[in-house]
Amino acid sequence: MTTPKKLFIKTYGCQMNVYDSERMAEALGGQGYVETKTPDDADMILLNTCHIREKAAEKVYSELGRFKGLKAENPDLKIGVAGCVAQAEGQEIMRRQPMVDLVVGPQSYHRLPEMEAKTRAGEKALETDFPEEDKFERLKNRPKAQRGPTAFLTVQEGCDKFCAFCVVPYTRGAEVSRPAARIVDEARDLVERGVREITLLGQNVNAYHGAGPDGSDYTLAKLIWDLDKVDGLERIRFTTSHPNDMTDELIEAHGTCSKLMPYLHLPVQSGSDRILKRMNRSHTAESYLRLIERIREARPDILMSGDFIVGFPEESDADFQDTLDLVEEVNYGYAYSFKYSTRPGTPAAERAQVDPAVADDRLQRLQALITRQQRAIQDGMVGRTVSVLFEKPGRLPGQMGGKSEYLHAVHVADARVERGDIAKVRIIGAESNSLAGELL
Ligand code: 5AD
Ligand code: SF4
Repeated sequence: MTTPKKLFIKTYGCQMNVYDSERMAEALGGQGYVETKTPDDADMILLNTCHIREKAAEKVYSELGRFKGLKAENPDLKIGVAGCVAQAEGQEIMRRQPMVDLVVGPQSYHRLPEMEAKTRAGEKALETDFPEEDKFERLKNRPKAQRGPTAFLTVQEGCDKFCAFCVVPYTRGAEVSRPAARIVDEARDLVERGVREITLLGQNVNAYHGAGPDGSDYTLAKLIWDLDKVDGLERIRFTTSHPNDMTDELIEAHGTCSKLMPYLHLPVQSGSDRILKRMNRSHTAESYLRLIERIREARPDILMSGDFIVGFPEESDADFQDTLDLVEEVNYGYAYSFKYSTRPGTPAAERAQVDPAVADDRLQRLQALITRQQRAIQDGMVGRTVSVLFEKPGRLPGQMGGKSEYLHAVHVADARVERGDIAKVRIIGAESNSLAGELL
């Protein structure tokens, strides 16, 4: 028997990259690779990169620098860069870092086996095209390994919205949705392997419009209802959404589909109409707030989450105050805020930039407000009963940890619970990043 080769994958960025890394590991599994947790003994290192903000790309270059020593010790070690930095700067990476053997963009992962063979023959391999063939189909025949209780499932990729700050339409390409039947098959397969909760992924997941059973365009809401019928699948989530694609039937599903969890990530980016317009968001702060009202009518206990950018070109103090006001009004359970980062090739890159010190200050103030809201919501969970899907042992011996329907991390000290169980838990305490509970 030949000894398996070892593959180390480091994943940056969003959940879609996590999903893609799993698919890459499976594709290379067919070439005799097994995953390893450290780069030290690897035969291949893959960095699955993110290009959404500047620092992410810089991190990749410094990480590559650190692998130089390993490559000197082991000349057979192959180093690859995947993901959105690979897509955007593939040639540049090969030039700047000659030790990189392989560069593969997000639409070309099904080519990895051939590419790996090419690197073993001593050649460089670069694939950053947007091929016609369906990478999901080509990646299908994979080993049936047992899985943990939660999984990501990509249903849609790419984006046609072209927000003025964002590289996604360029790195992931135009919106493409997978056919519903394939997604349901994949969900069934995941459930057979132990999965109880699936998060449907897409850069613009609520714009999903894959082919339905009769070949005509389907919607995310219809897909959710099909998944609702999959026995053994207990929880459905989706991320990440655009306000303009929150249709009535999707809002309604939040009130009527019991498997759909009461948590919604709905980025707004700014609370100022002037800035939203410059961002090319095609919605206003008011329309966003009204939308949330309707969502809360359908599902009053839903936990809202969002993304914000501060220091977008030309953002004034008054614009920023509008953002703070919007955050006050929504009351977020989670929110992610970022300082605007110039992305070459995007429309906003050409515009007058905000003083970085001003942007830093705004970021701190926004994050302080968001943290206060998150804490207050977590504290408010004490005394309430939630349902927890247990995923793994907690930090302390004897603890099991999992997520509530609201995506709060919850731990209990109770020997009766096992990984994969869903149980009713009473919350007895709130810590900074998790809730303590006891089984009912
Ligand atoms: N600068 C800062 N944040 C950005 N995001 C996307 N592009 C940029 C950028 N150029 C943020 C948005 C988006 C999240 C995934 O990343 O808030 O919703
Ligand atoms: Fe980027 Fe999201 Fe805007 Fe698409 S909708 S361009 S992915 S921020």
